[in-house]
Amino acid sequence: MDTLLLKNNIDDIRYAATLIRDGQVVGIPTETVYGLGADASNEEAVRMVFAAKGRPADNPLIVHLADFSDAVKYTSAIPELAHKLAERFCPGPLTMVMPKNERIPMVTSGGLDTVGIRVPSHPVMHSIIELSGCAVAAPSANTSGYPSPTSAEHVMRDMNGKIAAVVDGGQSEFGVESTVISFDGEDAVRILRPGAVTREMLLEVCGEVIIDPAILNEVGEGAKVASPGMKYKHYSPKADIIMVESSLADFAELVGDNYGDGVYALVFDGDEEGFPYRHLTYGADSSMQAHWLFQRLRELDDIGAEKVYVRAPSTDGVGLAVYNRLIRAAGFEVIRI
Ligand code: TXA
Ligand code: MG
Repeated sequence: MDTLLLKNNIDDIRYAATLIRDGQVVGIPTETVYGLGADASNEEAVRMVFAAKGRPADNPLIVHLADFSDAVKYTSAIPELAHKLAERFCPGPLTMVMPKNERIPMVTSGGLDTVGIRVPSHPVMHSIIELSGCAVAAPSANTSGYPSPTSAEHVMRDMNGKIAAVVDGGQSEFGVESTVISFDGEDAVRILRPGAVTREMLLEVCGEVIIDPAILNEVGEGAKVASPGMKYKHYSPKADIIMVESSLADFAELVGDNYGDGVYALVFDGDEEGFPYRHLTYGADSSMQAHWLFQRLRELDDIGAEKVYVRAPSTDGVGLAVYNRLIRAAGFEVIRI
C-alpha cells in the first residue's frame, strides 16, 4: 500500500476523517509532534497503530478529543482539578491521565485501567477529530525508539507503505510531545513526561506539582513505573549521542580531544563563533531548542554522524522537556565538566 500525502484543505481533511472513521491509520499534525491516529474504540485499528510503529503492547496510547467536555464519554471519574486544568490549558499540549471506562478498549490503554486524555489545539487535528466523530488514539508517528516527527516528511519516511495516509499540516509548533500528568490527591499532580505546559505553569493552578524521578533518572530493569513510556529507549537517532554539561570552552576542548570521522557537535545558536568543529545548532533558548531538537537529531543521521556531543540544555521551563528527551536519546550518557 502506498501512503497518500494529503494537504491542508477541507476536502483532504474530510477524507482523512473518513479514513479514521473507517478503521484506517492516518498520520496527523498536532501542535506538539505528528501523531499516528486511529479510532480509539476500534481494537483492530489500534492494533494497526502498534504494528506500524513496532510499539510494545503495554505502552498506552493517548486519546485525543475535540473538546474537553467529551472526556466524560471515555472516563469513569474526572477530578475537580482536571476541570480547572482544562479551563487553563485545553486545547493545548497537556495530557491528563484518568480512570478509563469501557469505551476505551484494553489494547488502547496498554492493559491499564486509565487513559491519557488530550485536546490538541492544531486546527487541522481539531477538524479531523470533529469530522471523524471518533475519539482519536494517537502516539507520536515515529518508528518506536526513533525521534518523534515534526513534519509530514518525517512521518512519510518512517511510515510510507505502513499506513493509509499522512496529512501535511506544516512544521509542528512546539516540537516536543505533550506534558503528561496524573493526579495525586485533591490539589496535586505528578508530571510523568515534561512538555510545553511547564511545572511553573501547572503551579498556577495546582497546589503541588511533583516531578516523577524517572523524568531525569534511568529506571532499573523491571522497576515499577508510573508511565510505561518511561521504561523504553527513546528518541534515539542512529548516531551515538553524548550529552555534555559544561562551559562552551570545556565543551570545545572535549570535542577537540575526541574529534575524528563521523564526530559532530550539537550546540546552541550563538556558540558557532570560534567553534572549529563540524556542528549543527538547535536554538538559543528552551522554546527554540524544543522546536528544533527532533529535526536536528534526524538531520544528524542524514549527514552520517556517528558520534554527537550535545551541549546540555537548561532544565528550567520547557527546557526540562528538552533535557528529558536528550538524556534518553543519549541512553543516560552524560559528561559533566
Ligand atoms: O504530544 C503528544 O502527546 C503526542 C501527540 C501525537 O499528541 N503523542 C505522544 O504519544 O507523544 P506517545 O504515545 O508517543 O507518548 C505517550 C506517552 C507514553 O510515554 C505513554 O507511556 C504515556 O504517554 N501514557 C499514555 N497513556 C498513559 C496512561 N494511561 N498512564 C500513564 N502513562 C500514559
Ligand atoms: Mg512517542
